[in-house]
Amino acid sequence: MNAITVDGLTRTYQGGYQALKGVTFSVSRGEFTAIMGPSGCGKSTLLNILGLLDRPTAGKYLLEGAETARLDDAEITGLRRARIGFVFQAFNLLPRLSALENVALPMAYAGTGVDERRARARELLTRVGLGRKAENTPLQLSGGERQRVGIARALANRPALLLADEPTGNLDSKSSVEILALFKELNAEGMTVLLVTHDPAIGAAAGRVIRVKDGALA
Ligand SMILES: Nc1ncnc2c1ncn2[C@@H]1O[C@H](COP(=O)(O)OP(=O)(O)OP(=O)(O)O)[C@@H](O)[C@H]1O
Ligand SMILES: [Mg+2]
Repeated sequence: MNAITVDGLTRTYQGGYQALKGVTFSVSRGEFTAIMGPSGCGKSTLLNILGLLDRPTAGKYLLEGAETARLDDAEITGLRRARIGFVFQAFNLLPRLSALENVALPMAYAGTGVDERRARARELLTRVGLGRKAENTPLQLSGGERQRVGIARALANRPALLLADEPTGNLDSKSSVEILALFKELNAEGMTVLLVTHDPAIGAAAGRVIRVKDGALA
């Protein structure tokens, strides 16, 4: 079964602008795929749909074989929480919470008990090399460290799919190399990874590059 199947995926924004014009592809489980293309071509629009943050206006999106159009909003929220980890360019951490609390938050929404979520959050922070900074707030972390927290948080509910929209877009080159290494490790452990990037080094490291231009596959 594919991790992702999209068929004729279209997204028309209010006002009639067509950001995606019928995109068709599939991603197998365990693949490491980069989505690349010029600014404004529709990469984030596509990733937001794949991450169940937005819905297509036409076309199909099957996540692990399940047709997402059939699902109501509550089901979509549940599916997103359980199956998708999303990493943002600007990290999107809550500034008043510690790294540990940020990572534990998606587990709280998923109903995991407090002891288990703290233990798992600590384990995940250790996994991304931040075991000793679990109590730091985002302001007490570097950009690269913040993104490690973002990745640990994305892994909290053991997703099937790890999505990232320009995860190194706000980072210096050394931090970018470290974050790329982390994605590669996670993929080597079996995680399906799909990320949007402008970074040729990430494109070269990915098993496959999907090129987008003007809302269509190039
Ligand atoms: N909510 C919206 N309403 C109307 N138009 C939008 C909306 N969001 C995005 N667009 C338009 O859709 C097009 C694609 O935007 P998108 O954010 O997907 O591009 P992108 O490929 O991610 O670009 P970048 O590399 O700069 O992040 C752009 O022309 C943008 O202006
Ligand atoms: Mg974008």
